[in-house]
Amino acid sequence: MKLSLGLAAVAAAGLFAVAGSAQAQEPIKVGAVLEVTGPFASLARQIEQGMRLYMAEKGDTVAGRKVELLIRDSTGAQPEVAKRLVTELVTRDKVDFIVGFALTPNAMAAAPVVTEAKVPTIIMNAATSAIVSKSPYMARVSMTLPQVTMPIAEWAVKNQIKKVYSLVADYGPGLDAEATFKKYFTAAGGEIIGDVRTPLRNPDFGPFIQRIKDAKPEAVFIFLPAGEQAVAFMKGYRERGLAEAGIRIIGPGDVVEDDVLEAIGDSALGAVTTHHYSAAHDSAKNRAYVKEYEAKYKMRPNFMSVGGYDGMAVIYEVAKQLNGKIDADKAMAIIKGMKIDSPRGPIQIDPVTRDVVQTVYVRKVEKKDGQLYNIEFDKFDNVRDPGT
Ligand code: PHB
Repeated sequence: MKLSLGLAAVAAAGLFAVAGSAQAQEPIKVGAVLEVTGPFASLARQIEQGMRLYMAEKGDTVAGRKVELLIRDSTGAQPEVAKRLVTELVTRDKVDFIVGFALTPNAMAAAPVVTEAKVPTIIMNAATSAIVSKSPYMARVSMTLPQVTMPIAEWAVKNQIKKVYSLVADYGPGLDAEATFKKYFTAAGGEIIGDVRTPLRNPDFGPFIQRIKDAKPEAVFIFLPAGEQAVAFMKGYRERGLAEAGIRIIGPGDVVEDDVLEAIGDSALGAVTTHHYSAAHDSAKNRAYVKEYEAKYKMRPNFMSVGGYDGMAVIYEVAKQLNGKIDADKAMAIIKGMKIDSPRGPIQIDPVTRDVVQTVYVRKVEKKDGQLYNIEFDKFDNVRDPGT
């Protein structure tokens, strides 16, 4: 009796040792759902590069476990595809974290799946206010449109811009931007003299831009998703002579983000926007970030890359605090209230809403060393998502 008990104990101890070492060698799996191909590929590329830069800097092992990135392509604004990919990642690949999402519809589609599967999910860009409220397992490191739009409404009125035409993309973040701008701008005494919503798929901005010119506003407030659409709009703005007509560009920073500025060219000069990141942000941490990123990828980092980079920082911190044993509820408890020293400056995840709290900068497009940049000249500290 004694002997067999002893053997059982030895056997059990042996089993535990095997299980323990197996876990030590299993990678921490991070499933990234990104718009790798299609019209939003440039956004996904920045996010992925930001993630990979973080891993290159810190090493691909944390708390004794390798970190494995599983990238899946949602091919654009495709919520059904995104939902299927997230489902496969949690059921078949058994990932420890879900990350990514440049676009709102894809992030929204993930919410019920990660809630049911209980998988901590880090939103690296998608910026419609409501997203993180859709799942207790979601947190966001990027921004929300109301958060980055509220400050430009205040800035515009203070700077004698009183008559504005609004143009936004006709989906979640555009509707959030429009509602936020209207609310704060009109409350401060501004007037919206016209507004238009443009389709997310294949928009033709020409007729809208002409209508804006004819309405003679002092500025056009714009939200369009970063990338191709921003370039297309700014091309029409130049060709139809809006700058010469004295119509300024204001809005959240997506339309003049770092990835598209050079493609837009000098017609971006003078645009004043509010946003959470500029490659020209003046800090030692950001200078190092931009230098490394440019050396590795031969292009300038934009705000989406920082979302990817900081999202990985969250995952590494969770893994460290849990000694490599990832548990969804413990992970979320650690994420709530987490502070990160980001290239954009310090940020915090709100312990209640799981949304990012950060400084929003006021910037103007100017030339620096012969290149276009968003030069920060004012800021609003500790901005939370005000909701809509
Ligand atoms: C979004 O779909 O939430 C989104 C996309 C591009 C942006 C900002 C937000 O620049």
